[in-house]
Amino acid sequence: MYAPCVLYTDRRLRARPPMLKKYLIALLRRLEPSPPAPVPPVPPAPVRYYSDAAELEGLVDNLDFYQPVYHPWLDPAAPFQRYGALGAAHALGSPDRYYVLLTLLEQALSLEGDVWECGVYKGGTARMIAAFLEDRGSPKRLLLFDTFAGMPATDPSRDWHKQGDFDDTSLDAVREFVGFPERCDYYPGQFPSTFAGLERRAIAFAHIDADIYRSITDCLEFIWPRLAVGGCVVFDDYGFPTCPGARRAVDDFFAGSIFRPLVLPTGQAIAFKSIPAPLRD
Ligand SMILES: C[S@@+](CC[C@H](N)C(=O)[O-])C[C@H]1O[C@@H](n2cnc3c(N)ncnc32)[C@H](O)[C@@H]1O
Repeated sequence: MYAPCVLYTDRRLRARPPMLKKYLIALLRRLEPSPPAPVPPVPPAPVRYYSDAAELEGLVDNLDFYQPVYHPWLDPAAPFQRYGALGAAHALGSPDRYYVLLTLLEQALSLEGDVWECGVYKGGTARMIAAFLEDRGSPKRLLLFDTFAGMPATDPSRDWHKQGDFDDTSLDAVREFVGFPERCDYYPGQFPSTFAGLERRAIAFAHIDADIYRSITDCLEFIWPRLAVGGCVVFDDYGFPTCPGARRAVDDFFAGSIFRPLVLPTGQAIAFKSIPAPLRD
């Protein structure tokens, strides 16, 4: 806008139209949008993992040696990444949580019993677990429990979630997404009713991701006595503001017991059945 005003008020140009014309053409050429410069592709940030303190010291003078520098859940070459990617489209977690889940599952492969997941929703974490068991050639079955139609009634005094949350799913869609039909057993309906008939089954590992107080308490009451010694239960939702009932259920269940759940910065909590002792004396 500024340049044409200058042109109009410049008496030398108004007096000499050909010169004005030339000037205008030159100016318009300059104003024409030039084709965008090709944007060079951004190379992926090089990922490097340091384990040698001396090497690090040489690289960064003021490095904070109290901050960890190795995060396996961010390592693109870590083998567990494949499973996180498989389920990610329908899972609600994050790579650090999948890392915890699958690393602990791996510890349970040699124990007696099956793998249970209570709270499946669209099958995101179930698919990760199923593929992991498959790749390891494990004979373990994967038992999957959910209404597959949304959250049952919740307790407003303890839970943030409401009845019907997570209802945008279905048993058929989950079966298709999870795959591995010969390994997975589905128990549609509300637990603990859907645990009926499974009283004699051993459990090596359980992933409890049910978000609400009553459901998590019901899962623990059934699963803990049947969990193999050396096995563990992973609670996905312990530390999250949307799941106050989950934390309370775990705390109430283990209160006064010799077993103390380990709370992780990921928001998960882990209860290890480290010794063959009853929950309480
Ligand atoms: C957070 S979602 C599970 C997410 C899933 N593990 C994932 O990350 O891929 C919680 C699920 O728990 C289920 N749920 C909670 N209480 C239940 C109960 N008593 N019986 C059956 N399903 C229940 C809900 O239907 C919902 O699908």
